[in-house]
Amino acid sequence: MKAPITLARQPRAYFTFLKEYCRNYRQIGAIAPDSRPCVNAMFRYVPFRTANLILEYGAASGAVTRRILRRKRPEAVLVSFEKNASFYRLLSKNVSGDNFFPVREDAFESRRVLFDMGLAGTPVDCIISTLPCSFLDFEGLLENAVLPLLAVGGVFVQYVYSLTTLRGYHLSPRLRNHFANIHSRFVLLNLPPVLIYSCTR
Ligand SMILES: C[S@@+](CC[C@H](N)C(=O)[O-])C[C@H]1O[C@@H](n2cnc3c(N)ncnc32)[C@H](O)[C@@H]1O
Repeated sequence: MKAPITLARQPRAYFTFLKEYCRNYRQIGAIAPDSRPCVNAMFRYVPFRTANLILEYGAASGAVTRRILRRKRPEAVLVSFEKNASFYRLLSKNVSGDNFFPVREDAFESRRVLFDMGLAGTPVDCIISTLPCSFLDFEGLLENAVLPLLAVGGVFVQYVYSLTTLRGYHLSPRLRNHFANIHSRFVLLNLPPVLIYSCTR
């Protein structure tokens, strides 16, 4: 079994963030892994005790992935999507766990990926997305890679950078079109600070 990332390996994650952000800031979105307070706030409404299938969109350094693996039931399946080659290498080398499947795929392709894995039609209990939502077709993500997959009662978690909100991009009206039950929480201690939304279907 591969060793989990230790503090000694963290500089590599920060270096990869800076390098990849400079190459393509629209795809990477942030300059550092998600902080512990950010991950804690994202997990508030995640049904770890009952979930059988969890998807993660934008796994990057694995800061969220490792914490999901610690919290989920061993038999629950986690499929983590990361389309950036450097981050995917980092993730698949340094993060491991029971029923964990890192994939170097676009999150928009999740339906096909689940089909290829033999999981077509299996209801997804939770989707945790740290994708930079303002730089992608968020409505398209919801329509193609969230709503058709999510179980009734399933939870979708997505954050938006506070600076993005200050610039006038708002996630809540986009989410309210599809979800009745939405909670939000602001986390200052993250780089950058984020507004986290948890939506129950
Ligand atoms: C803000 S970072 C995620 C941070 C991560 N949670 C961590 O703590 O290390 C966003 C990630 O989403 C990935 N990404 C962006 N668009 C994607 C897409 N359409 N499909 C899969 N991954 C994507 C980027 O390559 C980047 O690694």
